[in-house]
Amino acid sequence: MDRGRTRANRNFLRRAVRFCQEQGVDQFLDLGSGIPTVGNVHEVARAGNPAARVAYVDNEPVTVASCAALLAGDPLSTITAEDMRDPGAVLAAPGVRDLLDLARPVALLTVAVLHFVPDADDPAGIVARYRDRLAPGSLHVLSHATGDHDPERASLGAGTYRSTANPITLRPRAVVEGMFGGRELVAPGLVDATEWRPDDVVGPEHTGSWAGVARV
Ligand SMILES: C[S@@+](CC[C@H](N)C(=O)[O-])C[C@H]1O[C@@H](n2cnc3c(N)ncnc32)[C@H](O)[C@@H]1O
Repeated sequence: MDRGRTRANRNFLRRAVRFCQEQGVDQFLDLGSGIPTVGNVHEVARAGNPAARVAYVDNEPVTVASCAALLAGDPLSTITAEDMRDPGAVLAAPGVRDLLDLARPVALLTVAVLHFVPDADDPAGIVARYRDRLAPGSLHVLSHATGDHDPERASLGAGTYRSTANPITLRPRAVVEGMFGGRELVAPGLVDATEWRPDDVVGPEHTGSWAGVARV
């Protein structure tokens, strides 16, 4: 991801977490959580509710170690080293199972991670398996890289990942929308990450990420 997209994506994540928390959701399952940076999920969630619980999941060892160091001594946040493509293993992991109460609403965060899941692994099917386990009132937050707005720039960005262990699959709007499994999207629907309930002036430039939140 280029820097503009990364920043727009983190800002979307921050606004979406605040939205979930305003909807009364106080549990977060963050798949492909990345290295915690300023405005990470548990800080944003706790600003509105000090009792908010956050289960982070990532499969990259350095990321997991950094996150573990940051969360040391925090009883309401965990980091689980798991591959999000295996919902059964993620939901059974102690850091998730013992922290989150799946009988109550959860915010499922799949932010800038599903483009790392190739078509062969059926990303829409994977998120559906998580959603199926969530209580009514849960929310699904998603952002995903696309080439829809600026194919050349997007393919250049994706190219930097091509030879890595995590190549990116850019997907068009209809495919990304399908990852919500037909659930109702809250306004403004699936939009560029900068345009989702902005709390700042929105620039004219698309960031190359579709973003939205659906009710489960
Ligand atoms: C671009 S970062 C996004 C981080 C954060 N969600 C955000 O929006 O700022 C993607 C993260 O997903 C993780 N990731 C990629 N594939 C994954 C998988 N199959 N299971 C778990 N984590 C994965 C990577 O290790 C990385 O930390």
